[in-house]
Amino acid sequence: MRLDPTAIRSRFPALDRQQGGRPVVWADGPGGTQVPSSVIEAMGGVLSNGSSNHGGFFSASAESDELHEGARQAVADLFGSSPGEVAFGQNMTSLTFALSRAIGRTWSEGDEVVLTRLDHDANVTPWMLAARDAGATVRFADIDVETATLDLDSLETAVGPNTRLVALPAASNAVGSLVDVSKAVEIAHSVGALAFVDAVHYAPHGPIDVRAFDCDFLVASAYKFFGPHTGALYGKHDLLQRFEAYRLRPAPSEAPGKWETGTQSFESLAGVTAAVDYLASVGSSLANIQRSAGSRRADLVAAMAATQQYEQMLSHRFLDGVSRIPKIRVYGVTTGNPLPRTPTFGISVEGVHPDRVAAALGAEGIFVWSGHYYAVEPIAALGVADTGGLVRIGFVHYNLPEEVDRVIEALQRIAG
Ligand SMILES: Cc1ncc(COP(=O)(O)O)c(C=O)c1O
Repeated sequence: MRLDPTAIRSRFPALDRQQGGRPVVWADGPGGTQVPSSVIEAMGGVLSNGSSNHGGFFSASAESDELHEGARQAVADLFGSSPGEVAFGQNMTSLTFALSRAIGRTWSEGDEVVLTRLDHDANVTPWMLAARDAGATVRFADIDVETATLDLDSLETAVGPNTRLVALPAASNAVGSLVDVSKAVEIAHSVGALAFVDAVHYAPHGPIDVRAFDCDFLVASAYKFFGPHTGALYGKHDLLQRFEAYRLRPAPSEAPGKWETGTQSFESLAGVTAAVDYLASVGSSLANIQRSAGSRRADLVAAMAATQQYEQMLSHRFLDGVSRIPKIRVYGVTTGNPLPRTPTFGISVEGVHPDRVAAALGAEGIFVWSGHYYAVEPIAALGVADTGGLVRIGFVHYNLPEEVDRVIEALQRIAG
């Protein structure tokens, strides 16, 4: 079950981009991935065929309804849910603000919400503001600073009989650490709290199974998994139904539609479906694939398992390379087989500001991020907030081992 990176890369036109006569290295996947041609064609197709608002009595409008339903089914296959449990929005942040506002209004003084020091701010501030508005208390679960992983003992200590909700990440966008989501959800449920999972960083790196996670809500963003800029929310149907959504009077009153505000980006929804189909095609093209039903869900699970295997190789290669550069420090998980991480690395180079490292790499056509990338809590917890944060180098399944080597060689030069 091995990925064929050459075949994969041939499907992404942006991977042909050159700088200074060399192909660029897209090591910025955690900030957003490139898209295969099929996504571009699907989005362009909607616009060139003529696009219309949904719910009307003519063919172009009926097509928009079909697109919408199709995208719900595609994301349901990606999440392991049913389509009636999937709602779309502009991005993860907007969806989380909408949901936190709706859930938060059921809280009152004495209620508690538990957040983590591993999360992107989009899974922190919306809940803090909802708690503030309700007079509820915010508690934090800490990270183990040595490995930059969520401390589940701290999570267990933070929850209590008054906890109404635990918001947690499936993986860190800053340092790549994976979270044992099922265990964290179990801790939330042990005190009767809801569990909200941010799977934005995790989605391109591993299989999502909301039934196995048993989470109450989960969010992802298609632009991190080879699709366009659209967010997707999963919620257990009874919960999506139970909470009151802030919505316009003529808008749907039933879940999941009641969580979708205004007119959806139909061209993006076509792109979301094409991105999921792309991932499924990666699964179905694997040799020796043992598919029980030959379903899109089975293909997606196979694709993500192969992705994990391939990315483990990239991670080991990167860690091996940087371990030979004494001036480089990796923040996060560096041991284990499999490594409990995505191939997203937060590093520092002794004596060189992270922005300067990123700029030097950028000048060589190696695209990476520096700073906090909105991961305010992890960057503070790791003690690097006042020194410019970290340099983030992130790979996905279209990156090559040779690209990892190119990054290592450039880092060697920068570290001096
Ligand atoms: C882990 C994580 N959560 C949330 C977000 C916010 O996602 P969006 O841009 O869809 O609002 C990001 C974006 O970088 C992220 O990496």
